[in-house]
Amino acid sequence: MPVTVPSEICYHKTVERYREADRMAYTNLGEFIRRLDESGELVRVAQPVRAELEITAWADRMMKHPGGGKALLFENVVRIGEKEPCGIPVLVNAYGSKRRMAWALGVEDIEGIPARIRSLLKPEIPQDFVDKIKMIPQLVELTKWPPRTVGSGPCQEVVMDPPDLTQLPVCKCWPKDGGAFFTLPQVITKRLSDGVRNVGMYRMQVYDGRTTGMHWHIHHGGSGYLDEYVKAGKRMEVAVALGGDPVLAYSASAPLPDGIDEYLFAGFVREKPVELVKCRTIDLEAPADAEYIIEGYVDPGESRLEGPFGDHTGFYSLEDRYPVFHVTAITHRKNPVYPHTVVGPPPMEDFYMGWATERIFLPLIQMVLPEVIDYSLPAEGIFHNWVFVKIRKRYPGHAFKVMNAIWGLGQLMFSKFVVVVDEWVDVHDTSQVLWVLGNHCEPERDTLVTKGPRDALDHAAPIAHFGNKMGFDATGKWPEEGHNRPWPDRIVMDDSVLRKADETWRKLGLS
Ligand SMILES: Cc1cc2nc3c(=O)[nH]c(=O)nc-3n(C[C@H](O)[C@H](O)[C@H](O)COP(=O)(O)O)c2cc1C
Repeated sequence: MPVTVPSEICYHKTVERYREADRMAYTNLGEFIRRLDESGELVRVAQPVRAELEITAWADRMMKHPGGGKALLFENVVRIGEKEPCGIPVLVNAYGSKRRMAWALGVEDIEGIPARIRSLLKPEIPQDFVDKIKMIPQLVELTKWPPRTVGSGPCQEVVMDPPDLTQLPVCKCWPKDGGAFFTLPQVITKRLSDGVRNVGMYRMQVYDGRTTGMHWHIHHGGSGYLDEYVKAGKRMEVAVALGGDPVLAYSASAPLPDGIDEYLFAGFVREKPVELVKCRTIDLEAPADAEYIIEGYVDPGESRLEGPFGDHTGFYSLEDRYPVFHVTAITHRKNPVYPHTVVGPPPMEDFYMGWATERIFLPLIQMVLPEVIDYSLPAEGIFHNWVFVKIRKRYPGHAFKVMNAIWGLGQLMFSKFVVVVDEWVDVHDTSQVLWVLGNHCEPERDTLVTKGPRDALDHAAPIAHFGNKMGFDATGKWPEEGHNRPWPDRIVMDDSVLRKADETWRKLGLS
């Protein structure tokens, strides 16, 4: 199938444009915090704030500012059950705006990353010999990204003896939460059959100083890997990293295909390999520059009630049984910062992480669906409820082909409602999409109800993890699609009239 992407966003020239001034890999979370601080993107909170509910109240208020507000560094956090601040700062909302999200990935403009992915998917093959020679360094660069294991790292400067999770300022976010939860962990596992690493972001409920829940959904990597250990009756080793270059935690949340190492992807994004150190009590590696590393294991067959948890749906996810993580060691930097996020009624910080994913993964969607011009996961849709897709329609039923493909593409399989629109519609303008949807759709002819996997957090699914999906063909209809009445033109003013009105408005000082 030919891959067509708009020529203006093609290849190396575009990549170079983004790369010139922007490239910057952080050596650690502290460096990112400094950058936020120096550029006025960080609010330092010196007064004591409680890990129980109070941090959420602050963070939620900040995240609801238009554009996401600023990052918050709580310098004096009172741990749950204590009266005095613990001395470990808590960082929240670091990813919570388009600007900071791009900075977290080391670029000024997020489009620089999909541009690099496009250049790999469809490299511009030079015609003459000299240009071919010039390409060699670019190809060599491909080999530079895999993670490297090093002898030591700041994440092991201090060994907590004995390990005790209650020493960390883990927050209880919402009133009906079952307890305190780690919310930004990089959960590292290895597949039993071939040792391939997976890094996922799964919340972890603290049960006591040595155990947590492991809330990996059945569709996600960690859960898939555990299945193999369960079959073999073997204990699964798990390492949890907190912090490091902010690209690391983002990568743990990115919907990479099974078998692609998130730390390889992180190396690609930051254009510098991730450095890993060997864990002390388990046979896994973890990022050398992390703030904390928590080592441990999950026993096959063991589960425990987890939740409820005020979730990114804006509702509490219900209690359910999940695997249990047993801690064997905790190491950390000398002066660690605890990274945290709060999820809840949208938009929250995770909307911006999802936005980065939406932008970065567009070229991969276009590889299999070249007719897709753009798509959007609006904040109100909390990633899986609404997907708006803009296509270049070429044949009858084209919108149905696209929605069916979306339901087969990685984590887009969870999409509950898919709306397909024509190329003139701005999919990032939810109000415009709803306007077009209402006007262009004939409920029976232009909708499709099908079945498939549903997100674990979708409380409307009658059975957990399985249910219906609905597609809306909101493109203009053709006679070949059974529309035998004339289709109306869109109302658009003549350019010349607009230009004249513009000029007059300027003269009158109205614009
Ligand atoms: C802040 C945040 C919290 C998340 N919490 C969970 C969670 O508790 N369980 C889960 O399965 N996925 C959670 N996710 C989504 C996964 O991290 C995401 O789908 C990721 O791609 C899974 O990777 P995997 O397929 O390698 O497991 C969360 C994402 C974010 C951004």
